[in-house]
Amino acid sequence: MDSASPTATQLKKSEDPKAARQSLTITDNRTGKNYEVPITNDTIRAMDLRQIKVDPTDFGMMSYDPAFNNTASCISKVTFIDGDAGILRYRGYPIEDLAEKSTYLETAYLLLNGELPTEAQLKDWTYHVTHHTFIHESIKKFLDGFHYDAHPMGMLISTIAALSTYYHDAKDIFSPESRKKQTYRLIGKMPTIAAFSYRHSLGMPFVYPDNDLSYPGNFLNMLFRTTETRYRPNPTLEHALDILFILHADHEQNCSANTIRGVGSSHVDPYSATAAAIAALYGPLHGGANEEVLRMLMEIGSVQKVPDFIKRVKTGEVKLMGFGHRVYKNYDPRAKIIKVAADKVMQKMKQPDPLLDIAKALEEAALSDPYFVERKLYPNVDFYSGITLKAMGFPVSMFTVLFAVARTVGWISQWSEMIEDPQQKIGRPRQLYTGVTHRDYVEMDQRK
Ligand code: CMC
Repeated sequence: MDSASPTATQLKKSEDPKAARQSLTITDNRTGKNYEVPITNDTIRAMDLRQIKVDPTDFGMMSYDPAFNNTASCISKVTFIDGDAGILRYRGYPIEDLAEKSTYLETAYLLLNGELPTEAQLKDWTYHVTHHTFIHESIKKFLDGFHYDAHPMGMLISTIAALSTYYHDAKDIFSPESRKKQTYRLIGKMPTIAAFSYRHSLGMPFVYPDNDLSYPGNFLNMLFRTTETRYRPNPTLEHALDILFILHADHEQNCSANTIRGVGSSHVDPYSATAAAIAALYGPLHGGANEEVLRMLMEIGSVQKVPDFIKRVKTGEVKLMGFGHRVYKNYDPRAKIIKVAADKVMQKMKQPDPLLDIAKALEEAALSDPYFVERKLYPNVDFYSGITLKAMGFPVSMFTVLFAVARTVGWISQWSEMIEDPQQKIGRPRQLYTGVTHRDYVEMDQRK
């Protein structure tokens, strides 16, 4: 359907005389006063509450919403999620269609520009990303400075932040041309830095990008090439990685997207803002969950031990990692696609993994248990992605790094939208101060 045409719900509302007045009437029982605030897109503006005061000196009413459970922080056209129905769309295109028919670079273009590229646009976009994959030689020295067992996510955060010291033109954030240039650089260099971080942790020489390979193919080349004169990626793995990249490309206002918008709202350069987003992703409740899922499955160890583990989750002793989501109260559509991909990779690689059986047994046990059913806890994207990546030969510490490589385009799309939005200002939430109001300074000799 044309995005401009009204939806069935909108039509029903406008035909209903009771719904004709798109406003909310609030009665302040402290003063008996009534206020009428406009409703747009089923939302009121928090600033409209500020007029509600007990007396003229009063600051005015605020809304309290820790963790943004019910607060829209922006107006966006990038990604749509219906968490109850388990729907995810990039720029209106269902994730299932993109995973089946598109490629990561084409999807990245779509996220950034709002439309699927023509053949010429895709060629031009691919050319520019491919020709920005090399990094300055001194960045290699920087990477060499990390300890041998440094986590590649820590290395990625720092190295992406360090890019801001190389590209001074990145500060020109209001120039669309400059933003385009930084976008090529970020999407092009992210796999290189990610792969170099991994090679450093192995103590192996860095592998330079190969411009003749696809985006995921080149990533595999930089990660895994050893003595071959020319690395040829396994087509099954290359395709599976491309699908994983598409599934991780964006996810509207999640923790790291909110971070890049928040940090970027101070008008810092995109490398510093992206480094902050990667840091947000690193946490185990966000992108770090894929690593935690694998550790959990290894700890459980066998299908027989699943019921015991479920008991421990229900007593609150441990969390079932890879389950639950702030927005999805249904099966995460990405998890469905990855589950199929995991099976395919294992069949092709002829490498059955007992962890996949444990994961399936966990899922079955959870989905039929009232604890998970009542709380609407379903597998999320991270539940099967770790097993798939493990089967593809990725070490556990690289799982979240891979997520970061794919999500870069989502971060840049969200950041650019924020920069161009005239309604956005520097992010600055309010607080409810409940500390001591005022007291006199206590001299040292009088303190107890
Ligand atoms: N295992 C056990 N119980 C859970 C889980 C879980 N994974 N997730 C939520 N619950 C329970 C939670 O204890 C609470 O129970 P009660 O009502 O009795 O207090 C109820 O379900 C609601 O949970 P919540 O903590 O209010 O939900 P939230 O929206 O704040 O948290 C979440 C969302 C993703 C942080 C959480 O579900 C979680 O910690 N999951 C495990 C980590 C994980 O898999 N994260 C990846 C998320 S998807 C990819 C990404 O964002 O990068």
